[in-house]
Amino acid sequence: MARLNGKVAIITGAAGGQGAAAARRFVAEGARVLLADVADETGAAVAAELGAAARYRHLDVGTAADWAAAVRVAEQEFGPVSVLVNNAGILHLAPIAETDPADYERVLRTNQLGTFLGMRAVLSSMPGGGSIVNVSSVEGLAGMPGTIAYSASKFAIRGMTKVAALELGARGIRVNSVHPGVIDTDMVRAAAGTALHGFAKSRLALGRLGRAEEIAELVLFLASDESSYCTGAEFVADGGATAAHSLAP
Ligand code: NAI
Repeated sequence: MARLNGKVAIITGAAGGQGAAAARRFVAEGARVLLADVADETGAAVAAELGAAARYRHLDVGTAADWAAAVRVAEQEFGPVSVLVNNAGILHLAPIAETDPADYERVLRTNQLGTFLGMRAVLSSMPGGGSIVNVSSVEGLAGMPGTIAYSASKFAIRGMTKVAALELGARGIRVNSVHPGVIDTDMVRAAAGTALHGFAKSRLALGRLGRAEEIAELVLFLASDESSYCTGAEFVADGGATAAHSLAP
């Protein structure tokens, strides 16, 4: 039997990268999926490729009204929402002294406020329980210079996940965070070009960048009933990045 049969999912940031990979995997496993993003053209194209089990909806995750409308559309098209993947995210790289407060707020608005608004918006649509997957990062587990805003948002997601798990467990809603390492998507290509391939080869236990499809497998597990006893937990998929400390040669 398909692993997400009968599930209705909202996936944010689903126009590309890890979100699109998760949407493809979810539909292949029997879910009906509302793909949400601000990149409307590419998002609609991914949804069209997935056929009747998928719809696209414009959703800026930092805007509460967009969330209310997206949940309504998901319910009208497919029924009550059982899975939310808070995947949309943006990266801003700059040292603290050169981080403009407006950029700091922009990152927190999408990554942190967006995750909060998403969890809040789906609650009324999950009367029978559900699974919320919040995409954090290895930057939500440890620090890296030049990521002050991004790291603040990703640590926040890790903490909010635990609060939500504790509040929502009695309602049958599980909430977990995912912590990818360096994944070969537009986000990383835009920030570092191909330079990270050499870095990954020499520094990571697995010697390579991760693929969006590999994170989708983890998100699928957390969305499915196979993870029925997992909540409030951190799931790392980083090729061994956080296995080392800074004294490692
Ligand atoms: P990506 O840049 O390919 O995809 C991000 C998607 O989010 C894009 O489609 C973009 O249009 C969308 N988005 C941006 N702002 C939005 C908003 N306000 N509302 C709705 N959608 C919005 O990057 P990727 O790698 O697929 O990122 C997915 C998640 O994984 C993000 O939360 C990112 O922070 C996280 N992550 C990525 C890592 C990587 O190495 N690529 C590592 C660790 C975490």
